[in-house]
Amino acid sequence: MSFERLSIVVIGAGPVGTGLALLFRKHGHHIAAVGSRSVVSARKLSRLVGGKPFGTERVFGRPPRPLDLSKVDLVVLTVPDGRLSSLVKNLTAVRLFPVSTRFVHTSGSLTSEVLLPLAQLGHKVCSMHPVQSFPPDVSPRERLATLSGIWFGLEGSRAEERWVSRFVTSLGCHPFRVPKEAKILYHLACTFASNYSVALVGVVEEIARSLRIGQGLRPFRPLVNASLRNALVKGPRASLTGPVMRGGVEVLRRHARAIRRHAPHLENLFEALVSETARQGVQGKRITAKTARAVKAAVKR
Ligand SMILES: NC(=O)c1ccc[n+]([C@@H]2O[C@H](COP(=O)([O-])OP(=O)(O)OC[C@H]3O[C@@H](n4cnc5c(N)ncnc54)[C@H](OP(=O)(O)O)[C@@H]3O)[C@@H](O)[C@H]2O)c1
Repeated sequence: MSFERLSIVVIGAGPVGTGLALLFRKHGHHIAAVGSRSVVSARKLSRLVGGKPFGTERVFGRPPRPLDLSKVDLVVLTVPDGRLSSLVKNLTAVRLFPVSTRFVHTSGSLTSEVLLPLAQLGHKVCSMHPVQSFPPDVSPRERLATLSGIWFGLEGSRAEERWVSRFVTSLGCHPFRVPKEAKILYHLACTFASNYSVALVGVVEEIARSLRIGQGLRPFRPLVNASLRNALVKGPRASLTGPVMRGGVEVLRRHARAIRRHAPHLENLFEALVSETARQGVQGKRITAKTARAVKAAVKR
């Protein structure tokens, strides 16, 4: 089978299903059908990427006569994690696809084991997690731009990982293996990389708002961009700057007083971040253990 033109069905017409369907199409694959719990969502996506729209509940309720799925190579399940297991149960019961059809899901926290009922019918299965953030309400053009050259964490049998690796490469993206037993730890890393970094920008925004300078996050954009770029290119330990790295005990004491006064709900986070920055500074031989103890003591209540 060539990767030049796979026939693909996407089930779950949310941000991930939409983004990946656009990516598949851009790289020459054919979207045979788009399924979603609501046929309205399925129709919306099929207008963008082609393929026959179908509502999964309807299809599971009666024979899917208008849908010819006999030549589908791959089904990509992009439903919420909590819905995967019941979707797989339904797919197993109705046997919509020939056994030659492969199945993947895109969850970062679940392993390929959730697809076991399909594997027991003879389908090849794997998990294929895009290491990217898919916020809602993004235009198709913007969504596609964020998917260029991304990485996909794969987990399944070695043979299936090899097949999905070739598929991912056909999308201009990078595959890598995630060991089954480490999947949740891998997902934790993704969560820090995305969600908690975004939450930290939320903290910057909140403090900036209280300054009433009326510029929102704009003055901080170059600082955030350069700091993250340095950390990603040169490594975080080499890129740390600021009062913890300078052993600036007095400034840190004043930060602590300011946070207690203006944003007491952020006090625990602030202390934890000072402590973590100091730990990384010691590890990277940027500050001594004595300096680390001094900066941590300076911010303790
Ligand atoms: N969001 C991210 O940044 C991100 C990143 C990487 C991986 N992932 C993973 O990718 C998967 C999809 O993520 P998402 O954010 O796109 O999910 P989502 O927005 O929570 O849900 C996707 C769509 O699935 C449909 N759906 C729900 N239950 C269904 C069912 N039983 N059968 C068929 N369709 C159903 C819903 O559409 P309707 O109800 O409108 O039909 C919903 O819009 C998840 O496993 C997630 O963990 C997410």
